[in-house]
Amino acid sequence: MNISNYEKYISAETMMGPSSIRILEELFDKYPLQCAPDDLILDLGCGTGLTSLVIAKETGARVYANDLWVKAEENEKRFYNWGISGQVTPVCEDANNLHFNEKQFNALASIDSYHYFAGHKGFFQEKILPFMKDNGEVLIGIPGLKDEYEGQAEELLSAWLGNEAYMFKSPKLWEELIGSNDRIESVETWEMDCFSKAWDEWLATDNKHARGDRQYFETIIKPYTCFVGIYIKLKN
Ligand SMILES: C[S@@+](CC[C@H](N)C(=O)[O-])C[C@H]1O[C@@H](n2cnc3c(N)ncnc32)[C@H](O)[C@@H]1O
Repeated sequence: MNISNYEKYISAETMMGPSSIRILEELFDKYPLQCAPDDLILDLGCGTGLTSLVIAKETGARVYANDLWVKAEENEKRFYNWGISGQVTPVCEDANNLHFNEKQFNALASIDSYHYFAGHKGFFQEKILPFMKDNGEVLIGIPGLKDEYEGQAEELLSAWLGNEAYMFKSPKLWEELIGSNDRIESVETWEMDCFSKAWDEWLATDNKHARGDRQYFETIIKPYTCFVGIYIKLKN
């Protein structure tokens, strides 16, 4: 994936945290999705739809761009301006209560959002798996806690994250939380390599949240946190 193809879309307005495109780049480099044009991918928690654009361009598949905080009408306008309206459909639903068809999606990607709603056992099996086709693939990249600090999120991160610190969990814990099922072939979780690049690009923007993060980067974010990559392969 050549990130320079997307530079004109990346701005303080479309970014909502550490570069979602860097996170997606690592996921796609490690697990390239082989899609046909009529395959369907769910971008879960897509925010402003930057990741939906990249997923559509890189795979050639159709994308459902679902988010809770960003309205579908807002993303619809952006997708029109970006010339991807025919390929990317905006949706505004809570990930806890999605209304897609059974076994509708060939793949799911979720960047910097899964930790908001999925951090308990059974979520994947109950809320996501029913919508995934057999042989489907799931790529997730989220901020988390390094394995050696698991269990200490509140103590170590609260000064920065307040009452959202509990959402940060380690790669090992995420593997347990995803769990097993007779439709799941394998689950892999890892500490991602893109941490520095993704953070550097975010902290360089003039976004007000980035300005807030800057003061905690050296003391909290860099020593204790990481990005957690999650790859789930479903059985045929
Ligand atoms: C930090 S933003 C990241 C957005 C985008 N994926 C990116 O990386 O730029 C987190 C996103 O998670 C979404 N989110 C949080 N809770 C959600 C839920 N229950 N259902 C669907 N999306 C949710 C929010 O709407 C928000 O846009």
